[in-house]
Amino acid sequence: MDYKQQVAAALAPALPDLTLADILAKIEQPKTSKQGDLAFPTFTLAKTMHKAPQLIAGDLVEKIDQAGFEKVVAMGPYVNFFLKKADFSADILNQIMTAGGHFGDAKLGNAGQVPIDMSSPNIAKPISMGHLRSTVIGNSLANILRKIDYKPVKINHLGDWGTQFGKLITAYKMWGSEAEVKADPINNLLKYYVRFHKEDVEHPEMDDEAREWFKKLENGDEEALALWKWFRSESLKAFKKIYQRLDIEFDSFKGEAFYNDKMDEIVDILESKNLLHESQGAEVVDLSKYDLNPALIKKSDGATLYITRDLAAALYRKRTYDFVQSLYVVGNEQTNHFKQLKAVLKEMGFDWSDEIHHIPFGLITSNGKKLSTRSGRVILLDKVLDDAVALAHQQIDQKNPDLADKDAVADAVGIGAVVFHDLKNERMNSFDFNLEEVVRFEGETGPYVQYAHARAESILRKAGSPVLAADGQALSDPAAWDTLKLLSEFPATIVRASNEYEPSIIAKYAIHLAKAFNKYYGNTKILVEDDDLTARLALVKSVSIVLKEALRLLGVKAPDEM
Ligand code: ARG
Repeated sequence: MDYKQQVAAALAPALPDLTLADILAKIEQPKTSKQGDLAFPTFTLAKTMHKAPQLIAGDLVEKIDQAGFEKVVAMGPYVNFFLKKADFSADILNQIMTAGGHFGDAKLGNAGQVPIDMSSPNIAKPISMGHLRSTVIGNSLANILRKIDYKPVKINHLGDWGTQFGKLITAYKMWGSEAEVKADPINNLLKYYVRFHKEDVEHPEMDDEAREWFKKLENGDEEALALWKWFRSESLKAFKKIYQRLDIEFDSFKGEAFYNDKMDEIVDILESKNLLHESQGAEVVDLSKYDLNPALIKKSDGATLYITRDLAAALYRKRTYDFVQSLYVVGNEQTNHFKQLKAVLKEMGFDWSDEIHHIPFGLITSNGKKLSTRSGRVILLDKVLDDAVALAHQQIDQKNPDLADKDAVADAVGIGAVVFHDLKNERMNSFDFNLEEVVRFEGETGPYVQYAHARAESILRKAGSPVLAADGQALSDPAAWDTLKLLSEFPATIVRASNEYEPSIIAKYAIHLAKAFNKYYGNTKILVEDDDLTARLALVKSVSIVLKEALRLLGVKAPDEM
């Protein structure tokens, strides 16, 4: 129970008309510590209770069991709560030190499976910064959900099928060479693809040929299939290297092509329910009652579409995982696609479509401009990570030139900085990417949080003996108290992040905690040999545990030294 919940629980018996959640939502943090640690305002109750707020506050104080508090007083239209700081502190620190990295674990998911469709780049194109967001948001959501007892299943729905492979094969046959592709597959395949889009403007016959090749591919033509397989395996090798750098693993790489033989069933169900209509030679599902455009299921030439494969994938996932929720971490620009997907499933009679959630996110821009593969304006993720690691290296060389294991730490800091920056932004917000800012050791950055953790570890190393138990008496100064209150909020923060599918809540929390701790560290001589030394070390230890765990939930490492 954190301190807010303690206050809400004390108020509940006196306010039978309000739920615990209502009460929790009203509780405020007073401006100064003179007004206590938490306050409950009574204005909003005045109307329904037909009484002046001041009187309500007075009555509540009479009714509340004050045993768990230092004191509870009415101040104007507020009930102000003063916590028993020493008890509270000792309790929270002991909880954290006993649980270690398990602090904040909760049994909320009942081991329900949650497929997370994430990353899902397109074959034969580089993973761009655009795919970074899906990858790191998905990975963090998986960590958060696992912590509260769901079973996430990380699925990389590779874009390994579609008309673009007709274009790629056409381009390869015109300008490609085996040697070139072998030497640098992703970049050269991209080169062919970009050239195709430049030249087809003046040579529309290239598009006809591309359509022809894709048709061949769909019909299992040997040459087309062999090229496709080769492009796919070379691309996947390159993707896996990047996932390894990010330390992200997948449970499944079943991409769009996997569903090629599973779409007939979808079309059959749609037909049997009379949901397919012809429109200009194509087969569509009318979605006007959902205020959506018709979903295009089959093109006039019989070729199936992105959404048809997603319908098959959704059904496959339901059957395979019997999911309690099914998440799709995919850019905001595909919102309509997922609305259509859910609507068609609903029309098909699958009520579990309600458990499908699109988790959209905003764009990353570079110098204010959108990134795209067609024009070739891509920022290659691999290159960004290299640059970030190099910047981290420079700063470590300045700050701590004798550090052992510099390369590993620079890796953790550089890559962690890129991941953290992505996650600290609320996912719907677009943001501009500027590497210098991302890798700074000061400001609201990943390295700043990692540095606070490393500082805590360094204090503990200097102290020598292990810290085992806490005594809260010594920790009542304001900076310690702020840090303690934040520590106690970690479990509720995790639940909020999971409810809102919002890793930024954890990232912001980590920044707050790092700041509070740095303030404490700046005001207090921690390693002085006095009676309160153990208490201070227990606080340092707890901060280290919680910062490390918060970073882990984001997919960011926390080196002990940096
Ligand atoms: N490959 C797609 C893209 O890069 C994303 C796929 C998202 N997942 C899905 N099931 N539709 O835009």
